[in-house]
Amino acid sequence: MSSTILVTGGAGYIGSHAVLSLKEKGYQVVILDNLVYGHRDLVEKQLKVELVVGDTCDASLLEQLFQTRDISAVMHFAAYAYVGESVENPAKYYHNNVVGTLTLLEAMQKAGVNKFVFSSTCATYGVPEIIPIPETHPQNPINPYGASKLMVERILKDFDTAYNLKSVIFRYFNAAGADPEGRTGEDHNPETHLIPLILLTALGKRKAIKIFGRDYPTRDGTCIRDYIHVTDLAQAHVLGLEYLLQGGNSEIFNLGNGNGFTVQEMIATAKAVTGKEFAVEDAQRRPGDPPTLIGSSDKAKQILGWTPQYDELNQILSHAWQWHQKRHG
Ligand code: UFG
Repeated sequence: MSSTILVTGGAGYIGSHAVLSLKEKGYQVVILDNLVYGHRDLVEKQLKVELVVGDTCDASLLEQLFQTRDISAVMHFAAYAYVGESVENPAKYYHNNVVGTLTLLEAMQKAGVNKFVFSSTCATYGVPEIIPIPETHPQNPINPYGASKLMVERILKDFDTAYNLKSVIFRYFNAAGADPEGRTGEDHNPETHLIPLILLTALGKRKAIKIFGRDYPTRDGTCIRDYIHVTDLAQAHVLGLEYLLQGGNSEIFNLGNGNGFTVQEMIATAKAVTGKEFAVEDAQRRPGDPPTLIGSSDKAKQILGWTPQYDELNQILSHAWQWHQKRHG
């Protein structure tokens, strides 16, 4: 296998796990990452693949990349992904997530590369009408982040019709956990996600974990989310890539666990996994949070043969804990 996979955002959380999964399957990888949120040290010390520092909005850099490498497909993780920030600064999100992706797709088209694996999100569904959410669910995003991803989904549909660009779109639920071998994990700055914030509190780096709302229509009043191990996500990406390399047509898949946990259950399980006691505070609801998000991933299991390996919450939290102790302990 001599051809190379271009991984944008490969220095970030989900992208770095995908790079490890690709390497394990023998693929050559080149990362394109602007390092705004990605980590050079992870690429150099753990991933050990080529890193090109640059932006997906840079058409001439992309043209040069495709001219000088034998790239057969692109996995596109590079995006801004803070829901709250997207409401305050939509221009940043539409520019990077939509214009950046369009620039990348045009560069692929010029270079004759027509296989694309795209990170989309359950945030494209908005507030769900049915749980678990199937891929056919209406898409009515309630924030610019979700809207920016939905716009790219539409662009991909039209690029397939007009230019034969084949894509696999993955709509993730809540990516969680870390590489079981501790090589990479979640390290956002600023951090807004529940699991890392709980674990940073368990490490004594934060005073308390806040529960954003206790008056939701759920079993204990706190929000329910579907947490999926990032290594399982990464493995689905390799299967999606192979499906395209074998001539598969464009498809859309949810990636979730099919199980939901409340914020309160997450905190209780994290206390058990870490063996730490820490403060928990009640806080106001966070704007834009749907009460319950749980996905149906049957389609990915059936068509791609995807079998999640780490679907136990204890495993997800203990891998994340191992990583956080190493990175922040
Ligand atoms: N939460 C807290 N306290 C915190 C942080 C989060 O109670 O300090 C709650 C949130 O209100 C939410 C749950 O924990 O109910 C999970 O929150 P995260 O921020 O970890 O994740 P989200 O579900 O908000 O976001 C995820 C992805 C987004 C994606 C979104 C879809 O990270 O990229 O799902 O709604 F857009």
